[in-house]
Amino acid sequence: MGDDPVAWRTWRRGSAEGLSGAELLEAVKAGRIWLNLRAVNAAADDYAMLAEEIFADIEGATGQRTFRRDVGLLISSPEVQVFYHLDVPLVTLWQLRGQKTVWLYPPKAPFVEDQQLERIVLKETAEQFAYDPNWDVGAEAVVLTPGRMVTWPQNAPHRIANGGMMNVSLSIEFMTPAALLRANVLYANGMLRKTFGARPQVQAGYDPRALAKLGAARAWKALRPGEKTRDPLPPTFSLVRGQPGAIATL
Ligand SMILES: [Fe+2]
Repeated sequence: MGDDPVAWRTWRRGSAEGLSGAELLEAVKAGRIWLNLRAVNAAADDYAMLAEEIFADIEGATGQRTFRRDVGLLISSPEVQVFYHLDVPLVTLWQLRGQKTVWLYPPKAPFVEDQQLERIVLKETAEQFAYDPNWDVGAEAVVLTPGRMVTWPQNAPHRIANGGMMNVSLSIEFMTPAALLRANVLYANGMLRKTFGARPQVQAGYDPRALAKLGAARAWKALRPGEKTRDPLPPTFSLVRGQPGAIATL
């Protein structure tokens, strides 16, 4: 990714064919790279046990069931950023190594418009979108150091900047019944807006209209097969073996 926090289109996906883990780490230390090792709990028992413990705590503290659990180990270069974006599920971000600053913005206009949020839920657009640095006055900045965790309301936009060292963090995403209901309300609202030109409202909690939209969203999803596999960003570069930090355009 580039240096300008507004220029989110500089974010590119790459490949690392043939590099060993050690070479990959050297590339991270020397370059501007952000690795997301998805489902690390499925690959390593230590992370599986950690995730079980974390989710037991979350369920105990909130009384809510958790599912669609995704544990990602993030390894990223010094001084890099994650552009302004939002995630559909709930997220907790745990810092293991290095230091980073997370800016959190309220999940409402002007930080994100309903229509923008719906398009992200419908997977019609990338999770990144237009960011105005003036919005920082309405943001909360959290500095993460090893051992600290931050979480935020569902769909709250955020952006992240690393300090001058390699960073290692855990991004733990999940759904609860309430979070899944909200995602389905947004999905139905997006379809209502697209299909009928409606200007729908977001219902909070178990409103009867929300439950009706849950049913409508499920029906629409059944009619749009294959959307889960849509990948908006194809790889455009690869890391070069033996030259840490160097990339080759694909
Ligand atoms: Fe995120």
